[in-house]
Amino acid sequence: QYSIFPYRPPAFSPTFPAMQPQALPGFRDFYPAEFALRAHILDAWRRVAGRYGFEEFDGPPLEPLDLYTTKSGDEIVDQLYAFEDKGGRQVALRPEMTPTVARMVSARANALKKPIRWFSIPQLFRYERQQRGRLREHFQLNCDIIGEAGPLADAEIIALALDVMKELGLGPDDVRVRVSDRRVIRALLRGVGVVDDALLHAAYSAVDKIHRVSEADLAAELEKAGLGESVSGILQTARLKTLPMVESALADHDMSDEGAHLFAVVKALDQMGLGSFVDVDLSIVRGLAYYTGVVFEVFDAKGAMRAICGGGRYDHLLASLGGVDLPALGFGMGDVVLGEVLKDKGVVPETPSSIDVFVVAVTPEDMPHALLLSRALRDRNLRVEYPLSHAAVGKQLKLANARRAPYAIMIGPDERAGGNVVLRDLSTGEQRTVAHDQIETELVDLVGQPASPVRR
Ligand code: HAM
Repeated sequence: QYSIFPYRPPAFSPTFPAMQPQALPGFRDFYPAEFALRAHILDAWRRVAGRYGFEEFDGPPLEPLDLYTTKSGDEIVDQLYAFEDKGGRQVALRPEMTPTVARMVSARANALKKPIRWFSIPQLFRYERQQRGRLREHFQLNCDIIGEAGPLADAEIIALALDVMKELGLGPDDVRVRVSDRRVIRALLRGVGVVDDALLHAAYSAVDKIHRVSEADLAAELEKAGLGESVSGILQTARLKTLPMVESALADHDMSDEGAHLFAVVKALDQMGLGSFVDVDLSIVRGLAYYTGVVFEVFDAKGAMRAICGGGRYDHLLASLGGVDLPALGFGMGDVVLGEVLKDKGVVPETPSSIDVFVVAVTPEDMPHALLLSRALRDRNLRVEYPLSHAAVGKQLKLANARRAPYAIMIGPDERAGGNVVLRDLSTGEQRTVAHDQIETELVDLVGQPASPVRR
């Protein structure tokens, strides 16, 4: 007879050791070293977004399921973490931020000064097949401009993405932005016989896959969608990879006007001094259903990894969510591929030290003095550690080194008798005696100005 009450844990058995619990596949444990890389990336995101005058916001991590099923497109909907909550509502963990931004802005559109410049750093969830650069959760910088239809807004948003690259130490030899425009692609596809809207989406989907799927498979897919006659025209459009190629293809069809917005964006990026990062490439259409105009993706220059960043214009999304009709555009940049690229390029910072100074108590009798001095140093915003149980001086210094502390202060009976402490530079091993009442100021000078005013 089985009863689970009272619960008895399984008996310990050395032949059947307990399973080590593990994180779910595609989810990360951030140990301090990994957390430091995450903080390095997120800090850079916030600094650069701030320089462009973007305000930070956030929304709920759990949203109504239909926010995504209606607008995001099949690819994301297939990857949703969706379930019914205890109130019988169909809900999903957010897989992307754009529908949330659109909803939030729509709800207060009249009160918000346009153009709106907002950024957010949500953790997002997609049930993807786990592979290099793709996990089931990631952090994503989202920057969006809402309420501006002109090409300078597109250039501004792309420049922001590129400035993040520069901020993290990546240049045009490391990363490229591929810029395209759905209006240009649509015009050229019309020119090769893709007129119907439903067929247009089938053609977009084929163009989007051109680097991942063989041409034979693409042709078969297009044939199946009823686009057999246009296969070569569609593939030709996807192969237009420079500005002059796009210009002349449009001119051939007498459609040069359709390229005006894209050309203006590329020109503005040039004027901003960012032209060396930019490739015009019509194979970029983006998987998401809501994009309407300029679309772009940032890749590592070798093209070996998936996109670091992707975005574009979604001028009809706000209206289609029942809100106001405002033009909008933005991008999402994930931390996963970006982290891989930084590691590949060797621009990952060293694990930072966790403290500025380690206070060594030479004998147990010095401990009360170490506590008092540590308190005073922490009040000056310095990061301080001391031994929580007494140990030999050598052992204390080993711990100080493991913490990567730049300095140690040593307090012993002789120093106390003389009203002094010993200040040791742990990188050089040099040490000198400093008067006890001078040590706080001395350390603040050495370590740098504390971040906030003295709290006493
Ligand atoms: P997305 O292309 O789906 O666009 O994602 C943007 C970026 O997020 C990708 O380039 C990639 O770096 C990262 N990312 C996406 N999925 C994963 C994953 N499973 N694991 C790791 N990283 C991932 C969007 O989400 C749009 N909502 C972006 C946007 C904002 N468009 C306009 N505004």
